[in-house]
Amino acid sequence: MLCLLILLVCSGETTDAFLSQHSSTSVTTTSRTCNNYNSGIIPQQTTSLRSTTSPLKQSASPSAAPSSFKSLKEFNLTLEKMAEKCGSLHEPVIIRAAECQDLWEIEVRKAKKDNKNLQPDIISFRSTLNAWSQCTQSLVRSRRNRKTLPETPKNSKLTVEVYTPLDAAKRATSLLLAYPEPDLVAYNIVMDAWSKSRVPEAPEAVERLLKRMRDAETVQPNTYTYNLLIDAWANSNRDNSLEKVLQIYRHMENLSKDSKTNDVTPSIRTINAILHAYARKSAQFTSQNNQEGYDQAAKCAAEAYDLLQETKKRFDETGDTNWQPDMATYTSVMDVHSRCATYKTTKIAGQLLEELKQLHLKTGNQRHKPNFRTYTTLVTAWSRTKSEESPQRVEAIMKEMAKCGENPNSRTYTAAIQCWSRARDPLKAKRVLKLLMEMRGEYKKTKSEHLRPTTITYNTAIDACARCQGSADQKTESLKIAFAILKTIEMDDELNADGVTYSTLIRSLGFLMPTGDERNNVAKAVFEKAKNAGLVELTTLKNLSLAVDAKTLKIAMDGNVDQNGNADYTNIPYAWRKNGNK
Ligand SMILES: *[C@@H]1O[C@H](CO)[C@@H](O)[C@H](O)[C@H]1NC(C)=O
Ligand SMILES: *[C@@H]1O[C@H](CO)[C@@H](O)[C@H](O)[C@H]1NC(C)=O
Ligand SMILES: *[C@@H]1O[C@H](CO)[C@@H](O)[C@H](O)[C@H]1NC(C)=O
Repeated sequence: MLCLLILLVCSGETTDAFLSQHSSTSVTTTSRTCNNYNSGIIPQQTTSLRSTTSPLKQSASPSAAPSSFKSLKEFNLTLEKMAEKCGSLHEPVIIRAAECQDLWEIEVRKAKKDNKNLQPDIISFRSTLNAWSQCTQSLVRSRRNRKTLPETPKNSKLTVEVYTPLDAAKRATSLLLAYPEPDLVAYNIVMDAWSKSRVPEAPEAVERLLKRMRDAETVQPNTYTYNLLIDAWANSNRDNSLEKVLQIYRHMENLSKDSKTNDVTPSIRTINAILHAYARKSAQFTSQNNQEGYDQAAKCAAEAYDLLQETKKRFDETGDTNWQPDMATYTSVMDVHSRCATYKTTKIAGQLLEELKQLHLKTGNQRHKPNFRTYTTLVTAWSRTKSEESPQRVEAIMKEMAKCGENPNSRTYTAAIQCWSRARDPLKAKRVLKLLMEMRGEYKKTKSEHLRPTTITYNTAIDACARCQGSADQKTESLKIAFAILKTIEMDDELNADGVTYSTLIRSLGFLMPTGDERNNVAKAVFEKAKNAGLVELTTLKNLSLAVDAKTLKIAMDGNVDQNGNADYTNIPYAWRKNGNK
């Protein structure tokens, strides 16, 4: 039974190769850190990590200083606080994690020297692992939010060769492997780091830890361990991630039947992890942007829907609240449906929200309350769906959000603006402007990063104005709004126009103004702005060529046209394009 899983989920032949290669690199970094203190408490165990001898025995430090802490409790508390800091994007998380490890190592060394000193325990060790796990997750988040972490303070004595989430997760792993008898919690902390690391090798890394745990026989994986394995596969974007996830789920079901020997019982948390895998997979499919991708995404949606029905049935039959679908369950199934961008799937997503609202009404349980994520998923679904109803639907959902205190974030607003941009309503520029001002107002009020309008938000709004298909008056109105939006960007100290802003604006002139001198002049003026900002791009020239006549083009280009009168990007002054893309 035990080996079954390993056969199932482990690609056996690479197991040991990974471990040894992995350990030799990370052990070197560890010892480098320790050199500052004349000793590496973790010796160069290059041959076998399975060694039963404690690596902590081989301390070589000559000094036997007493502990710097009054009690174990004080020491643990300090480590815990240090680990917590590693989860903050306002901290230089790599050096913080290294400091935590360093402190732990110093005390371990002192404890070896003198057994009257406080003896770091498994709780101390868990905090040290957690520091690296938090560090891994912060590195992932800082990349995703494009937020730069604070730099390592200049006066730091530690050299840390950790740069990426992969490095940090490896660091946690090598610490774990060097520890004499790590417990289940320690294993799960490191697996958690891997499952959230978003690196391609994460699933195998988790599987190897699982195998090791099995081999060690002193620790038994529990439900959480398997949930983390599912997360690792779900986040991996690998081709077979979904099959793996379902295989692990079936295996968990098998294990749960044998509850005497196993502490594994899948629950709604497991189902939510599987549904998350469906959501990631369908996003991957639709990003192919072809019919096959959309067909595959539709299949994911149907399967996710079936899984929800099965789960509901299971809850109804057993009355076991561990199986009751919650907000996360519904939101994920809605998310899978929203990817498909069809009227039918969007309607289903809407029905699911209604069902969740009913559930919340019935139970009053906070876990069943739709939150801003749930609503935003539905806004996004309507925004992707080419339907006459879409804008009204989006507006209604946003009103409902306001009513129940679930504030829209920038994703909600951007989806709503995009929705209007695709709509046929001749007054859409006004709607878009209203949304944009509302978002801006909320941002000024709350200063919340989640609400910060970006240049992309503004560009989307200008693009919506450009697509007005109404009367001449309505087009003029749209154009005025587009320029008002440009003005807003120019006046804002927190953001700048980019190449897309100007080329979209020039394009809008082609759509919104009749040909003639007036259009030539306005286009030329916008182009001057782009030149001054160094933001002339190839698309700017293409849009300019479409908006103005040949004479104006030649003047605007300062004569940089070829013999056919076409704008020549390769010969424009560097100053015009120095801040743009290509
Ligand atoms: C530190 O460890 C001791 C002994 O294991 C434990 O009693 C205490 O609760 C721990 N403190 C913290 C903050 O984890
Ligand atoms: C579950 O158990 C059944 C019967 O014991 C077995 O046939 C099946 O292969 C097992 N499935 C998994 C995924 O472990
Ligand atoms: C005009 O500009 C927009 C925004 O940069 C761009 O997407 C579009 O492709 C451009 N049009 C042409 C004909 O290049």
